[in-house]
Amino acid sequence: MHLKEIENQAILEIQSSKNKEELKLIRVKYLGRSGILAEEAKKIPQMLPEERKNFGIIFNQVKETIEKFLKEKEAAFQEQKVKDVLDLTKPGVKIFAGFEHPLAQAEEEIIKIFSTLNFSVVEGPELEEEYYNFDALNIPKNHPAREMWDTFWIKKDKNRKENLLLRTHTSAMQVRYMLSNFPPFRIIVPGRVFRYEAIDQSHSINFYQVEGLMVGENVNLANFKFIIESFFKKFFGKKIEFRYRPSYFPFTEPSIEVDIKIENKWLEVMGAGMVSRHVFDAVHYNPDKVQGFAFGMGLDRLAMIKYHVPDIRLFYENDLRFLKQF
Ligand code: PHE
Repeated sequence: MHLKEIENQAILEIQSSKNKEELKLIRVKYLGRSGILAEEAKKIPQMLPEERKNFGIIFNQVKETIEKFLKEKEAAFQEQKVKDVLDLTKPGVKIFAGFEHPLAQAEEEIIKIFSTLNFSVVEGPELEEEYYNFDALNIPKNHPAREMWDTFWIKKDKNRKENLLLRTHTSAMQVRYMLSNFPPFRIIVPGRVFRYEAIDQSHSINFYQVEGLMVGENVNLANFKFIIESFFKKFFGKKIEFRYRPSYFPFTEPSIEVDIKIENKWLEVMGAGMVSRHVFDAVHYNPDKVQGFAFGMGLDRLAMIKYHVPDIRLFYENDLRFLKQF
């Protein structure tokens, strides 16, 4: 075949090739070690000297031309590929990002509100000693009040004097905190608690509480009312009414139950009271010099009211169809 014909043929094939793979085959076919041009070059030894010179010049031109067309087409394919990958006119792909669990969101909001009321946040252990969870809170062994909290006890370990349990309330942290801090202070203690109870739509064997404790020289029930009403009004952002009922907890005296009326229903939302002298004795505070209030509320309960969740179990099943609504 004449060299120029080879060139034309090659250009035609290059221009009608559809992808990089086809181009590769064309390159091998024409420029490869046993390709068409290599075959043509084998004729050189039989040529006359002048013929050779002429042939050589055209041969090189043809080779360069084919190379040039191949390169151009390769570049065109490359550009196309980039366009396919990066089409700036396409709508974006939504990336799935994590989000906070509704209980975490509620906790965060509670912390925020209490920090505006000058409370700081403290946390304590979930695996707790009997002493902090019960005895120091004026709930000695065999005291009937222990039945208020169905407890998960941890198997006795011979190497340990203390009995361990999963804390039944965040009140255990009242004692731990007061043993290593001096009044005046205001703290809240958010955390997980455990109860050995039958599970239903409003009971779970583990749930969250937020404990509050404010102690100082002159802290009284009026202060408690102000703090608590400010908190609930901010948390629910709606008009609510309050009701205070007498109650009983071994670690507060007097003890109070707080109800709120929201959307025309009275709901029990908090146990509270003035810290008992027995507790101050246990943490070596002088009960004639300091006084304070404590409260405990169920975080799950508050989140259920706020977000209209009918069943506490939904918080613990991790069903994305539920969680994604928050
Ligand atoms: N710890 C009590 C409970 O779990 C609530 C409470 C906290 C009551 C602080 C009074 C003071 O039921």
